[in-house]
Parts: sequence; C-alpha cells; structure tokens
Amino acid sequence: MRILIRKNNEAVGQSAAQLMSPFINRGATLGLATGSTPLSTYAELIRLNQDAEISFQQCQAFLLDEYVGISRTDPNSYYQTIRDTLTSHIDIADDRVFSPAGDHGDSFAAAQAYENQVSGAGVDIQILGIGANGHIGFNEPSSSLSGLTKVQALHPKTVADNARFFASENEVPTHAITQGLGTISRAKNILLLAVGESKAQAIAQAVEGPVSASCPASILQMHPAVTVIIDEAAASRLDNVEYYRHVEQANLNE
Ligand code: F6R
Repeated sequence: MRILIRKNNEAVGQSAAQLMSPFINRGATLGLATGSTPLSTYAELIRLNQDAEISFQQCQAFLLDEYVGISRTDPNSYYQTIRDTLTSHIDIADDRVFSPAGDHGDSFAAAQAYENQVSGAGVDIQILGIGANGHIGFNEPSSSLSGLTKVQALHPKTVADNARFFASENEVPTHAITQGLGTISRAKNILLLAVGESKAQAIAQAVEGPVSASCPASILQMHPAVTVIIDEAAASRLDNVEYYRHVEQANLNE
C-alpha cells in the first residue's frame, strides 16, 4: 500500500485527481464512490475537465452501490448523487455511467446482472471512501472477503450516518446492492480516501490491523496496487506515519 498523508480535505482531492488524470485521458473504466469523502476529488476533476486538461469522453464509469427500493431518478439515488456531484458537470455521456438497478423487482437478480456488467468491463481505477466501521462499498463487517455483488442489509450505524441526506432516519433504505469485496478487489488500481477524525480508527484498522472481515477495508492489504490518500486527522491513529511520509519523500514504493 502507498500511504499519502495530506494537510486537509482539499489537498486529498487534489492528489487523488492528479493520480486519476492519466487514467481518464486514456479512456479508463472508472469505479466511482458516492458519499462526502470523494467530493473534493470530484470538484478537482470537474475543474480539470473544464480547463480542458482532462477528458472523460472515452471513459465509462461504474458506481459501487445503490440503495434497494430507490429508482435512478430519485434524488436520493446514488445514480442521481453522482450526476449531481460529478457526471453532469463533465464530458461523459449518461449512458456510459452504470449503477445497480435499485428498483428492480428482484434485487438478487439485479445484483447478479450488475456483477456481470462490472466484471465484463473491468475497472481500471476504483475510488473508495470508508465507513467509520471499516466498510467499503456497503460491505459491512462480516462480509465475505471474496464476495461478489450482493444485496446487503445496512448496519444501523450506516443508516444513521446516511440519515443526513433524508428527511428522517425512517426514510433511509435498509438494504443496498453493493459490489462485493471480491468484485472491488478485481479493480486494477484502487484509491482509498478518508478525511476527518471520525475515520481515524477505521483507517488504522484497514492499513495496520489484521486482514479481517471485522474491518472489510483491510482486504485491500491483499491488493497489489492500492493508494491510500488521507488527511492528517484520518491519519491520526496510524502507528507508522513518519515512515509513510519518509517513503513518499524518498519517492519509494512500498
Ligand atoms: C458510497 C460507499 C460508502 C462510502 C462510505 C463513506 O458509495 O460505497 O462505502 O464511501 O460510507 O461515506 P462518506 O464519504 O460520506 O463518509
């Protein structure tokens, strides 16, 4: 794992966008996360696109997850969220942005169909946020470390965390279709982003803890091409911060 520690959220976004830019200009298949963490990255990608430094025209993009029971057109769907925060502001066609069918009558069939789509396309670079409990996508603790796209019951803490986007906690869906940890692990390159003290424990477990389904993000330790970009607050519980800074300054890998 390459660990890059940045001063603040904005700097995390700039580094992530810089790393993604060559992939984007090569027409990569992108894996996108929703949530607040990637917003600074998306803002920087939009700026680079508007300044004509990057073009998404040849790219396609796959979302990690979608709520069950919510249609693409619902303002709270992850498909609309990614349109609002990224894809409607850049030069990618809507029909090149893919997400699980949250409103499919048979969620299990929708999960299988999405698994086939994602694995058929092959993600070149995947952006991930991390939950305070170590989840990536909606793979909550106890998820299979090699699992494929599935229907996941959300942890009550995840429901509570996401209630800020809904009128009340009762309206937050209780299930999601999410790429599994095995699906995510097939991406050729992965960027794990985190900002803020509330993510410090999860980052410490993911980066320095044992590989365990108790912290689903720890499976990334098994992946050959992961870059973790975090701010100082999210890095605050790591034991080896000085070493990670040294490796970056010495321009060494691993
Ligand atoms: C979103 C997703 C989630 C979030 C995680 C962190 O598509 O898959 O794993 O990345 O819940 O959310 P934020 O960034 O809002 O703290």
